[in-house]
Formats: sequence, structure tokens, C-alpha cells
Amino acid sequence: MRRKLAAGNWKMNGLRADLAALDTLAEQRGFDVDVLICLPATLIGSCAGLPFAIGGQDCHSATHGAHTGDISAAMLADIGATHVITGHSERRSDHHETDAMVAAKSRAAHEAGLTAIICIGETLVQRADGSTLAVIDAQLAGSVPDCATADNTVIAYEPIWAIGTGKVPTTEQIAEVHAHIRARLAARFADGADFGILYGGSVKAENAAAIFAVPHVTGALVGGASLKPADFTPIIAALA
Ligand code: G3P
Repeated sequence: MRRKLAAGNWKMNGLRADLAALDTLAEQRGFDVDVLICLPATLIGSCAGLPFAIGGQDCHSATHGAHTGDISAAMLADIGATHVITGHSERRSDHHETDAMVAAKSRAAHEAGLTAIICIGETLVQRADGSTLAVIDAQLAGSVPDCATADNTVIAYEPIWAIGTGKVPTTEQIAEVHAHIRARLAARFADGADFGILYGGSVKAENAAAIFAVPHVTGALVGGASLKPADFTPIIAALA
């Protein structure tokens, strides 16, 4: 089993002055978990020397070329990133990313030596109509490339209706989906039992411990509450 992972996703937030938050976070010591902050690409190069991992939030599926405004996995690795988020629901919806595109981006991440944090999750309509597990199956099959291993891939289950809303699934709902993801990974990959499986969506200090107690939850992908050390530190502590 992988070490537990507390991952922050700053999304499109953060100027250089905001990196002081990472210095504050770095002053916290003694957490026996991995900590990762996925930053806007503009900030990644300014983070050398911090005692936790730094990641990007997206990469192109190509190594280089005529793709104005895009960034390759190799470019992220070149400025110090070790991870990259692929298939976040905001990318899927804002940029019409399909499962096939997410798989290609994740493959590119692996080829550049990055760990891909592949996001999956259902909409509220899909949750309500009972198709959550079918959606998860399709996204796992389509977004996770065959070259995925427990070393180069982490799955993040993020119900779209829980992202930034303050609404959180019940621990039973999280348990059902995480057990399902684990079973699918174990059926498909030789080391499927070892993949990290994060939960994401309105994780806060108040709900973190209950979520982390759910079987197969190996950590969290945290948006809003990762921006301030005072909010993120208790979440890291709950995982430790
Ligand atoms: O990637 C993390 C994210 O989508 C969850 O955001 O703000 O609900 O923690 P938030």
C-alpha cells in the first residue's frame, strides 16, 4: 500500500506573493504522510527546496509542438514537478476533455516520469439516477492507461457535486465507490491493490478524519482548503 497522500489543488489561484503560504506549511513538521501541492504552472519553478512534492494541474498529451498556450509533462518535470493532475472535472467540462484525452495525458505524464493523479467522479444527476458506479467504470476504463502502475498513478474520486459546494457524500457513499474502484483496479492491474485512491470534494478540517477512516481512502485531493496553511494543516494531521 502506498503512503498516504494529502494533495492540495490550488486551481487558478496564486501569485508569487502567495507562495509564503508554502513556507508556513513547510514549518509544520512530523507528519508521516506525503504532502503534495498542485500549483498553477507559473509558480512551480519558484518552489525548489520545499519539503513536499509539487505538481501541475494539467499537461498536454504531446511532448512538444505547435500547441499554443499548452504545457507538456516534460516541461512540468523540468521545473521540478513530480506529479500532475489529469482529467479534473473542471478540465473535462471547461475544455471538453474526454476519457481518451485524459488517458493520453496520463500516458504522457508517465513517459515524463511524473505521477498522474487521474480524477473521476459523477454528476449530481448521475448520482440521483443510480448510474454512479457505471460512470466510474467507464471513466476508469477510458481514462486510466494500460501503462498505469501503483508507482506512477493515483486515482482521485471527486464527485462533481461535492467540489466547492460544501456538500459531501456520506461515508457509506464514499466507501461504496472506493471499494468499487479498488476492485476494478485489482481486476485490471497486477498491483491494483496498491494504487492510492484519494477522495476529493469539500474536504475540510471538520470532515477529514471521518473521510480518512473509510476503507480504501488513502488520502485527499483538496481544493479550497489547501490554499491556507491554517485550513490545510489540520487535514494533513487528520491523515497522519
Ligand atoms: O481537486 C480538488 C477539488 O476539485 C476539490 O475542491 O474546493 O471542494 O476541496 P474543493
